[in-house]
Amino acid sequence: MVAFTPLALAAALATTASAHFGLEYPVWRSPTLGTGHNYSQWTYPCAGVPADLPNGNRTDWPLKGGSVVLDLHHPWTYVFINLGLGANVSNFNYTLTPEFWNATGNGTLCVPELLLPTELNVTDGTQGSIQVVTLGDSGSALYNCADITFRGSAKALEGDACKTTEGLKYAPVKAAAASSGNATTGDAPKNAGSTVSGSLVTLSLVAGLAVLFTFGIAL
Ligand SMILES: *[C@@H]1O[C@H](CO)[C@@H](O)[C@H](O)[C@H]1NC(C)=O
Ligand SMILES: *[C@@H]1O[C@H](CO)[C@@H](O)[C@H](O)[C@H]1NC(C)=O
Ligand SMILES: *[C@@H]1O[C@H](CO)[C@@H](O)[C@H](O)[C@H]1NC(C)=O
Ligand SMILES: *[C@@H]1O[C@H](CO)[C@@H](O)[C@H](O)[C@H]1NC(C)=O
Ligand SMILES: *[C@@H]1O[C@H](CO)[C@@H](O)[C@H](O)[C@H]1NC(C)=O
Ligand SMILES: *[C@@H]1O[C@H](CO)[C@@H](O)[C@H](O)[C@H]1NC(C)=O
Ligand SMILES: *[C@@H]1O[C@H](CO)[C@@H](O)[C@H](O)[C@H]1NC(C)=O
Ligand SMILES: *[C@@H]1O[C@H](CO)[C@@H](O)[C@H](O)[C@H]1NC(C)=O
Repeated sequence: MVAFTPLALAAALATTASAHFGLEYPVWRSPTLGTGHNYSQWTYPCAGVPADLPNGNRTDWPLKGGSVVLDLHHPWTYVFINLGLGANVSNFNYTLTPEFWNATGNGTLCVPELLLPTELNVTDGTQGSIQVVTLGDSGSALYNCADITFRGSAKALEGDACKTTEGLKYAPVKAAAASSGNATTGDAPKNAGSTVSGSLVTLSLVAGLAVLFTFGIAL
């Protein structure tokens, strides 16, 4: 996984408020939204949040892969999810999104089961960290990380624990489209008529900012 650097800092700063995202599950190392902390989601690889060893939160995740729940705050974003193995990960060198996603819509996105690469051989008790990277049109990336322990007894989220906001969709972006330089000219399905329920408590931190500014306006 390459390290994305902010390519258009001015644009990035202008969109700081709405472009941030939350990592709800596995539980992130520390909240990086809102105020009252010194973290920045612009900071590679984990928003400046170190692994809090050995006592930080570590979510049990199934051996074949598990669920991821994100809070997304702008009309669309590219999403990359990576995995590093070990207790104190410095190298997130396994991608769980070989074709990264274009997530369209804001709200809560629950991906029920994100499978590990087949060559990866984790066993009960293997530790690792998940890195979620979101990317907008300007090329500036945002980061959040969560620490996990693979467990034979862990289950993927289901039912009420894995609800996606109505109208929010994600689709893999074909590698060819992404590398052709024409990635933003694709005619993706629109969800213009869909309703968004926006009632999630966790979104209240940033709701005001999200209303003030939508990512798309700056493009
Ligand atoms: C953030 O950094 C400032 C300046 O170093 C410090 O005074 C403040 O206590 C820090 N806040 C937190 C939540 O760590
Ligand atoms: C662990 O996660 C819980 C639930 O999100 C949170 O309340 C708690 O503050 C976290 N603990 C640490 C050490 O971050
Ligand atoms: C984790 O690794 C970082 C460097 O990647 C190092 O600075 C830090 O001390 C390590 N933490 C522990 C608890 O080993
Ligand atoms: C991933 O990184 C770890 C730690 O640096 C290393 O041990 C492992 O061999 C790497 N795996 C691949 C497939 O590059
Ligand atoms: C996976 O790891 C287990 C336990 O270390 C080992 O017995 C098995 O041969 C490994 N499988 C592969 C495909 O590497
Ligand atoms: C990229 O866009 C240009 C201009 O619209 C077009 O001429 C070209 O064929 C496109 N390339 C690909 C690979 O789609
Ligand atoms: C991603 O979705 C947005 C909104 O639907 C669309 O404008 C954009 O073209 C899409 N990008 C790709 C690469 O499909
Ligand atoms: C989604 O974005 C719209 C327009 O910016 C905003 O009014 C709405 O509150 C957002 N909903 C959520 C769940 O963030």
